[in-house]
Amino acid sequence: MRAVADLDVSGQTVFLRADLNVPLARAANGSARITDDGRIRASLPTIGDLTRRGARVLVCAHLGRPKGDDYAARAAGGPSLRPVADRLAELAGADVALAADVAGPSAARIAAGLADGAIALLENVRFEPAETAKDDATREEFAARLAVLATVYVGDGFGALHRKHASVFDVPAQLPHAAGELVQEEIGVLRSLTENPERPYVVVLGGAKPSDKLAVITNLLDKADRLIIGGGMSYTFLAARGLEVGRSLLERDQIGNVRALLDDASARGVEIVLPVDLVGATGFSADAEHDVYPAQAFPADRESLDMGPRTRELFASKLADARTVFWNGPVGVFEFPAFAAGTRAVAKAISEVHGLTVVGGGDSAAAVRQLDFPDSAFSHISTGGGASLEYLEGKTLPGLAALND
Ligand code: 3PG
Ligand code: MG
Repeated sequence: MRAVADLDVSGQTVFLRADLNVPLARAANGSARITDDGRIRASLPTIGDLTRRGARVLVCAHLGRPKGDDYAARAAGGPSLRPVADRLAELAGADVALAADVAGPSAARIAAGLADGAIALLENVRFEPAETAKDDATREEFAARLAVLATVYVGDGFGALHRKHASVFDVPAQLPHAAGELVQEEIGVLRSLTENPERPYVVVLGGAKPSDKLAVITNLLDKADRLIIGGGMSYTFLAARGLEVGRSLLERDQIGNVRALLDDASARGVEIVLPVDLVGATGFSADAEHDVYPAQAFPADRESLDMGPRTRELFASKLADARTVFWNGPVGVFEFPAFAAGTRAVAKAISEVHGLTVVGGGDSAAAVRQLDFPDSAFSHISTGGGASLEYLEGKTLPGLAALND
C-alpha cells in the first residue's frame, strides 16, 4: 500500500476521501450541532500534511444516510455537510469552501479554483444515489465524474473502508492513489490485534444485536482468550442459556446461532463471560424506575438497560490481567446517566490495563468521550466500528483492496 508521504502532491489537486460522518443533534435554534467531532479531528493530520506540502485539497465525505430516489430529493432532505465544513475550518484554522453539489457545476468551479495549500469540501457524496449503487457500471460512471475533479486520490476514510462505494472503491481505480495517515495508523493497530497479540487477549463486545457480531465472534474464537459480552446483545446470549430476559432487547431468531457459538467456544476452551445481574427498568427512558436483578431471576415485565454491580465487578476482574484488549459497543444505555455505570466500569477497567487497548467504533468512542475519559486513557480509539469489525472478521475491506491495487 502506497503511503501519502510517497506521493508527489505539490500543486496537485488531491481527492481526499475522509470519514467525517459525525453524530448530529438539533440545536435549540433548529440548526444541526455536532455532538462528537472525533472523526473530523482524526482527519486533520493528513489534511495538514497535504496543505503544508502545497496540495490543493478537495475533501469528499458522506454524512448519514440521505433518503430519496434522486439527487434533488436527497439534497433537499439533507443532511448537508455545512456544519462539518464549519467545524473543519475552525479546527484546521483555514477557510474551507463547501461546494453546493457533489460532482456538478459548483464542485467543478471550486475544484478548478483551489489554490496550492487550500482546502475545499464537496457536498454529502451520498446525495448522489450512484455513490452506493450495487451495479458496478453505475458506480464507475459516477466515479469518473468525481475523478475528473482531481489529479490524485488519497484514501483516509477508515470508517468507510468496508463500503464498496464509488468514492471509496471506484475513484482510486481511476487515479494514482495512496493511503492517508489515519488509514495507515488504524490498519497498523488492527494488525497488532490479529498478528501475535500479547496474551491474555480479551475482547469486550456490546451494542444492540448479536446478528451484527456473530461473524466476528466466530473469527475471534481462534484469536482471543476471553470474550466478555454485555449490553443489548447479551440478552440473546442469556436467553440462549435458557434465562428469562423479560422485555429486554432480544433477537429471537439468533438464539439457535448463539447456542451453537457458545458450544463452539467451550469446545475450544475460549472463556465467554456473560452478565450475572442486570438493571431492569420499567421502560426505555432516562428516568424509568429501575432495580438490580440477578440474571437468573429477571422479571418478565422489566427491560434491562444496563449491567448490574456484580457484573461490573466481574467484567473488571476479567480485564485486570489482560495484555491486549479490543472493545466494541457500549454495555448499557450510556446516553441516559442512570444507565451508564456498566459502560463506565468497562471503560475504567480497560483504561487500567497495561498493554494494547483499542476502543473500536463510533458508539464506543462517543461513549468514552461522553463519560469524560481522555483519549489518552486508551492506546487507540478507532474511528471505525463496522470497518474494524469486518477487518477482525477476516473480510477484505473494499476500500483497502482499492488502495492496495
Ligand atoms: C460509519 O459511521 O460507520 C461510517 O461512516 C460508515 O457509515 P455507514 O455505516 O452509513 O456506511
Ligand atoms: Mg456504522
